[in-house]
Amino acid sequence: MSRQHTLLMPLDMHLHLRDGVMLETVAPLSSYTFSGAVVMPNLVPPITSKESLLAYKERVLLACGYGVDSDNFEDGDGLGGSDFEPLMTLFYQNYSEDFLQEVRDDIFAIKLYPAGITTNSEGGVESFDIETMRPTLEAMARMDIPLLVHGETDGFVMDREAEFMSIYKLLAENFPDLKIVMEHITTMAAVDMLERHENLYATITIHHLLITLDDVAGGMLAPHLFCKPIAKRPEDREALLKVALEAHPKVMFGSDSAPHPQHRKEACGCAAGVFTAPIALQLLCELFDKHGKLENLQNFVSDNAQNIYGICPEFKEVILENKEFKIPERYGEVVPIYAGKTIAWSIEDVI
Ligand code: NCD
Ligand code: ZN
Repeated sequence: MSRQHTLLMPLDMHLHLRDGVMLETVAPLSSYTFSGAVVMPNLVPPITSKESLLAYKERVLLACGYGVDSDNFEDGDGLGGSDFEPLMTLFYQNYSEDFLQEVRDDIFAIKLYPAGITTNSEGGVESFDIETMRPTLEAMARMDIPLLVHGETDGFVMDREAEFMSIYKLLAENFPDLKIVMEHITTMAAVDMLERHENLYATITIHHLLITLDDVAGGMLAPHLFCKPIAKRPEDREALLKVALEAHPKVMFGSDSAPHPQHRKEACGCAAGVFTAPIALQLLCELFDKHGKLENLQNFVSDNAQNIYGICPEFKEVILENKEFKIPERYGEVVPIYAGKTIAWSIEDVI
């Protein structure tokens, strides 16, 4: 008799949905199993105005199945519909307090990218001059708008995240009332920061819990595992695993699922990003089960985020089963993580 495990209101606290045909392909895959997701603003051009934010939210909802027939994937029941909330973000710039007041009710957070550090981040922050950023960050703190950060310098690729810790420290100390989330952490150094600053939190992806740099580049190059930040050393993965498996109250699941068409990944100049959204919960179940920690998965995929952000997600019950699942070779134009491989857990039902 196979075992089942139920997750209530899973949340993906870091997700790339893109736009156009790609959005139509990937959005229903997340809205099927997640109650909500924090939608990243790194479109071309990035989301920096109220108009573009609201228009993008409309397109996301439409792609999730609001008012449209979404039978493009098998087992159509539950796909799309109203039980998924896109939590919209703005791309960080130095914004005026008036502008922030105007968008306050429409945004969940603001995402900061260092300029040029990852996909579509060219318009990001050029230099971390605290005094230049102070008016915006103080206004955000007053309005309780969280700051989500892609924390990498432009240093040597394996050191970029660790080097960014001094900037996190500066931000955390200068803006003690600002909620700062270290997105997709990959290092022991970032895990250590959680204990040092009360106002620092973190998201962790499933792929950084599973792979190290060896899986990306230790044998034949694996483009579908290439992402920013790059997967690090085994001891870094161990540090991430420890806080994820114990569902440390300051960590949350954020997939950083970042789809690119196959020809942009299997190319000279491979785009950064791992596509995990439709398999994330199955892989998390497999991983937590393997470590005998399934009882902590609910906190990691939902309750911690609810507590940290003070949110009440749409009701959803996802029943997973300890039954083999063969990961599809492709979703539309996108090759997912572990394409074609069989994993131990599958989605049995979504209520
Ligand atoms: C993301 C993307 O493709 O938008 N890529 C990635 O490797 N994670 C951007 C990001 O979050 O860095
Ligand atoms: Zn991302």
